[in-house]
Formats: sequence, structure tokens, C-alpha cells
Amino acid sequence: MRIKTGIRGFDETIQGGIVPNRIYVVSGPPGSGKTTFGVQFLAYGAGTGTPGLYVSLTRGSEATIESMSNYNLNIPILIERGKLLFMDAKSVAVYGDADTTINPSTIYSEIVNTVRKHAIKRLVIDSMSTLRFSIRDRRSEDEEVGRFIQNLKLLDVTTILLSEMIDPSVYATEQYACDGLIFHHNFMRGRSMVRAIQVIKMCGTAHDCEMRKLGFAEDGLFVAGKIV
Ligand SMILES: Nc1ncnc2c1ncn2[C@@H]1O[C@H](COP(=O)(O)OP(=O)(O)O)[C@@H](O)[C@H]1O
Ligand SMILES: [Mg+2]
Repeated sequence: MRIKTGIRGFDETIQGGIVPNRIYVVSGPPGSGKTTFGVQFLAYGAGTGTPGLYVSLTRGSEATIESMSNYNLNIPILIERGKLLFMDAKSVAVYGDADTTINPSTIYSEIVNTVRKHAIKRLVIDSMSTLRFSIRDRRSEDEEVGRFIQNLKLLDVTTILLSEMIDPSVYATEQYACDGLIFHHNFMRGRSMVRAIQVIKMCGTAHDCEMRKLGFAEDGLFVAGKIV
């Protein structure tokens, strides 16, 4: 059984959708549509009765709700119906903050509580890059990220981890540890910028690794033809 991401034109490229209860990573540079991908995935599920949770480790979720409400994805209605939840998990202690015990394990506990309480089935974490900020000891960063992902696998949810990517030839731990990896690309062609999406790996799925045009429309992201 597969579930649809809800990204128009994308599910067709991966045999109709993603296998549920696995962990996927969407990596790309800033402004390439990662947050939109994640929120759209949750909104699609929520619209079909599946509760989804967006965990914001970067900017406050108020700002994300505001910008994502520009799309015709019924975000405010889905939130009101309790099918779409936004949660702010702190990844960095602010000055004067007495609580300096923020780490991937405390963030995980917060996520687990919310997942159980609201019977969450779709989960998005934005982003793995900021989760890393909560790791004090730089030497244990990869180990901590690996452990965080192993623990997410214990949950009965389909997870999309968003991660910032500057150099596509350098792989991060989450990209090794996940079941599926999707890249977003922004590149210049002449004087205009082209946005593309590419499936790097997708366990148990026949797919190609072509770059396809990624566009923004009123209802969010859509995937068009191959870029030649
Ligand atoms: N209707 C829209 N609402 C919000 N962003 C839009 C819209 N149409 C196009 N965009 C583009 O989407 C970009 C933000 O995408 P986002 O998903 O936040 O990217 P990322 O999370 O990778 O930084 C904006 O910089 C803007 O260029
Ligand atoms: Mg973002």
C-alpha cells in the first residue's frame, strides 16, 4: 500500500506514492520549496482525515502558518478541525533561558507526546539542520542524528525530514539513514532560475533519477516534465 504525497505530478513518478510509516528526507537550498513540500504533504493527509504534525525547529510556526496560508490548501480550516497541528520545539536556548537541557532526546519526547495525544500519522520536522544546533558536542553530532532517526522509526507515522543542502555531493547522516531521499535544486539557466526536483533513492520503488521542473502554483508545488 502507498500513500499520496499530494504534490501534483510527483506521486506518478514514484509508483503512485510513498510507502507509509517510513522516513523520507527532502533536501535542498534555501527557498527551494522544502517547507511548502512538507506542509502540502500534511495538508493533503489532513484533507483526507489523516492527522498531521509540523514540528518547527527554525522559525516560529506562526510565521510558517501565515506564509503557507497564502496557498489554497485550506490550512486555517484544517488547523481549526484539529487535523493539522503546528508545534514549536525549541532547538536553541535563548539568552537568559534557564532551561539549557535542549537536545535531540528532549525534542523527541515532545514529538512523541504530541503524536500519541493526537493520533498523528504524518509528521514533518523542519529542519534537521536546526536539530543539529541542539547538539552540544560536535563530535557526537552524526551519532545523535542517527539515534534520533532510529527512534523516529519506532513511531507509527510517515515522516518527512527537511534538511538544508548546499553541496549535493556531500551526504549527511539523515540522507544515509532514511528510506527515501528527494533533492530540490535551484540553478541558473541563462538569466533565469530553474527549480527542479529529483528522487535520489526510494526504497522498494522503481523510479528514475531525472530532474523534473518544480513549480509554485496557487495550490502549492507541482512537478512538471523532465529537464533536458
Ligand atoms: N504563493 C506563495 N506563497 C509562498 N511562497 C511562494 C509562493 N509562490 C512562490 N513562492 C516561493 O516559495 C519560496 C519559499 O518556499 P519554501 O517552501 O519556504 O522554501 P524552503 O523551505 O526550501 O526555504 C519563496 O521564497 C517564494 O519564492
Ligand atoms: Mg523552509
